[in-house]
Amino acid sequence: MSRTYKVAVIGGDGTGPEVVREAVKVLQAAAQRFSFGLDLRDYDLGGDRYLRTGELVPDSVLEELRRCDAILLGAIGHPDVKPGILEKGILLRIRFEFDQYINLRPVKLYPGVECPLKDKGPEHIDYVVVRENTGDLYCGAGGFSMRGTPHEVAIQTSIYTRFQVDRCLRYAFELARRRPRKTLALCGKTNVLTYVYDLWERAFHEMGAKEFPDVKREYYHVDATCMWMVKNPEWFDVIVTGNMFGDIITDLAAITQGGMGIAAGGNIHPDGVSMFEPIGGSAPKYTGKNVINPLAAICAGGMMLKHVGEERAAEAIERAVMYVTANKLKSLAAGRMGYTTTEVGDLVASHVASGGD
Ligand code: IPM
Ligand code: MN
Repeated sequence: MSRTYKVAVIGGDGTGPEVVREAVKVLQAAAQRFSFGLDLRDYDLGGDRYLRTGELVPDSVLEELRRCDAILLGAIGHPDVKPGILEKGILLRIRFEFDQYINLRPVKLYPGVECPLKDKGPEHIDYVVVRENTGDLYCGAGGFSMRGTPHEVAIQTSIYTRFQVDRCLRYAFELARRRPRKTLALCGKTNVLTYVYDLWERAFHEMGAKEFPDVKREYYHVDATCMWMVKNPEWFDVIVTGNMFGDIITDLAAITQGGMGIAAGGNIHPDGVSMFEPIGGSAPKYTGKNVINPLAAICAGGMMLKHVGEERAAEAIERAVMYVTANKLKSLAAGRMGYTTTEVGDLVASHVASGGD
């Protein structure tokens, strides 16, 4: 029996609405071909609404989001709003409110995409970063004292509980087990962060030995991880790490797969409401020009379908994206694709609709 998914669509700021429109076009083509329904609802959240009304995510909207099967987000970030307000008030608010404890970031170099790493091709870059998404320096613990004086003190604390670490590790081990190479690397900093990453490392080996003996375990310090991601990305299969390191290494990873035009992520609670997004920003200077690359948003839509259980549709979207990168686009960069934003959406959507024949 075919299902209908209720999806909240938050275009957000800058080019967010433009890329999300193309993602929706592709989702609709997939729904048609694979016979499932989409009940899409738009939500006006972002910098413009905040400047107009002072609202970030009104409680009533939060309640509606809670009843959705998934959320598709464009981008958050507005040049007239001080950094931190929209990020904390909208993006992080939704992540925390729905306890989206996994930030899943696939790193895959698609055919035809220019890679900044010398002599590396699609066969070398195909891994996934599982970034913990609720704890660490993101938990909001900290403060100032004597602010504005020469003796000012600023504290921002990284906090992890065993529960948070275990549930993230379990997700990562399960993911690694489903992949052919069955290898999970913990990215930490046990030589300096001797409390937080000591906890991660103990939990990693305990869980691995007891519950996932078939998954190979590796450990890398975060600085070395960055080095190997550039030098030998083919070493990686699944990387699991804390929130802050995960934030940083996934931007590095994104650039190795062709940049923000292609990199997508999911903020996941396996049994709750998850949110999928292109990981690039709102790119205000390109707003309304129809030049931004929508593939990252389209890939986020594909991840969303995979998450809700429409695997075949998700695979069809990925194949269509690969067809377009391999055969159509000149570059992934805004304004240099050889096509407009809407044309790229059309190319992917028609490939999804026709099954590629
Ligand atoms: C990301 C972003 C966010 C983060 C910002 C915008 C709060 O950089 O999704 O990686 O730090 O998590
Ligand atoms: Mn980031």
